[in-house]
Amino acid sequence: MTDVASQGPTPGDDRPVLTNRQGHKVYDNQNQRTVGARGPATLENYQFLEKISHFDRERIPERVVHARGVTAYGYFESYGQWGNEPIGRYTRAKLFQERGKRTDVAVRFSTVIGGRDSSEAARDPRGFAVKFYTEDGNWDLVGNNLGVFFIRDAIKFPDVIHALKPDPVSHEQKPARIFDFMSQTPESMHMLVNLFSPRGIPADYRHMQGFGVNTYKWVNSEGKTVLVKYHWMPRQGVRSMTEEDAAAVQAQDLGHATKDLYEAIRRGDHPEWELLVQMMDDHEHPELDFDPLDDTKTWPEQDFPPKRVGRLVLDRTVGNYFAENEQVAFGTGVLVDGLDFSDDKMLVGRTFSYSDTQRYRVGPNYLQLPVNRAKNATVHTNQRDGLMTYEQDPHGGDPEVNYEPSITGGLHEAQYPTSDDEGPEIRGRVTRKRIPRTNDYLQAGQRYRLMEDWERDDLVKNFVTLISQADRAVQERMVWHFLLVENDLGLRVGEGLGIGPRDVAHLEPLAGQSLTDEDRERLANLG
Ligand code: HEM
Repeated sequence: MTDVASQGPTPGDDRPVLTNRQGHKVYDNQNQRTVGARGPATLENYQFLEKISHFDRERIPERVVHARGVTAYGYFESYGQWGNEPIGRYTRAKLFQERGKRTDVAVRFSTVIGGRDSSEAARDPRGFAVKFYTEDGNWDLVGNNLGVFFIRDAIKFPDVIHALKPDPVSHEQKPARIFDFMSQTPESMHMLVNLFSPRGIPADYRHMQGFGVNTYKWVNSEGKTVLVKYHWMPRQGVRSMTEEDAAAVQAQDLGHATKDLYEAIRRGDHPEWELLVQMMDDHEHPELDFDPLDDTKTWPEQDFPPKRVGRLVLDRTVGNYFAENEQVAFGTGVLVDGLDFSDDKMLVGRTFSYSDTQRYRVGPNYLQLPVNRAKNATVHTNQRDGLMTYEQDPHGGDPEVNYEPSITGGLHEAQYPTSDDEGPEIRGRVTRKRIPRTNDYLQAGQRYRLMEDWERDDLVKNFVTLISQADRAVQERMVWHFLLVENDLGLRVGEGLGIGPRDVAHLEPLAGQSLTDEDRERLANLG
């Protein structure tokens, strides 16, 4: 027998030669070094040990949420104005100032609850995360497709995710756990009415909307602030799937939405979204029946008309899934001058959570990776070293002066474009309190009434199928909530579960729950 593996390249084969990471040529990639052809392996076999130990480390932890996703690149083009009004009147953020100005973007679409290889046809909110590589550094707008969220205080995030994820004992997905949590969380009703309707399974990523969900601020060149909400509208239209459609899709392919996006980009059918912004004066708005900092609420379009500010086009797929999709890192703290946070209690918590998880998931120098770098801005920082440091001396000044202030060299602070006292003055005691205007049912009911008949039928069917798997006490509480959302919804889900209004009339409001006069009136009519 001849030893084919060690014969080397055949004459005329001009493909590059395989090496290890040290640049050593690999002469035999088929056989380990052993004592004799059948003898024990040797420990100094550097080439083999390097190969296998690097392979052993190929995976990083998947995202704790939004593990399954797809990234694409493109550009954002600003309209510069709406009507005759320049956007610059409200924000000094450079990317919005001129009509036609383009900014490079990376966008990652995702599902939330499933693991890295789970189905893209799952009933689940979808992530819509956009990284704008602006000349003032990166801006991340990390949103979803449903416009609202389950909770309004970040302290509840680990609980809502634990309830939605599989059971920690058996790893089974259990609707009983989900509705146990939701039945005790009245602010989730608006999200649930969306999620369990057909909108909870978008047909794919190209045919879904995106929303910033949380309330942010814009700051203009005089330091004046307004509250804003962001919306992405797909030029392709919005399409959703019923449970049956989704079952058929995922029976064939767990990754249909990635495929759909990449195939469209490859054939030159570049998907496009328009960015719209709703605006409000920056104060508490006591005249509204909701709190502008509450992410379980939308802002009525007739009162706060969305203004078109630009368009997003995706025209390029990634060159490497791991480097650009697994390692890309978005966060709500990543804002540029002219954009700011609001005091939305979710936004504050999110802003800590993203970079915290990314330092763990990707590593402390995740911002040095090509996909995450502020590639269109100049980065000069005194941050030093750490695991996997790549850029040792990113600032061009005196590399020895890696501190500030200094009179001998190094970097100096920038001057604020305007005063740093921005927005209204806030006063209050340190406390732990719910926001006063919770109004958990009104908008959920409005959403239900806006649905088409087939959407309502689908919603009721989905609720009945899943809530019937929960304990009786949970079922009753959910019917109680739905009767407060909209009588028709409560009656129909109740009918499916064999629970009438009288069966739930004895239930008291939850501890600490505040009800509106209209809620109380509905409750009084139950018996
Ligand atoms: C991903 C935390 C609420 C949208 C993540 C990740 C964490 C997280 C830890 C994983 C990030 C990574 O590993 O890179 C939180 C917390 C929240 C919250 C603590 C509430 C307090 C929301 C809300 C939205 C949202 C309300 C939608 C508006 C996203 C998206 C991603 C994500 C789109 C995926 C980003 C990507 O594609 O890499 N979130 N999240 N999250 N979250 Fe949140």
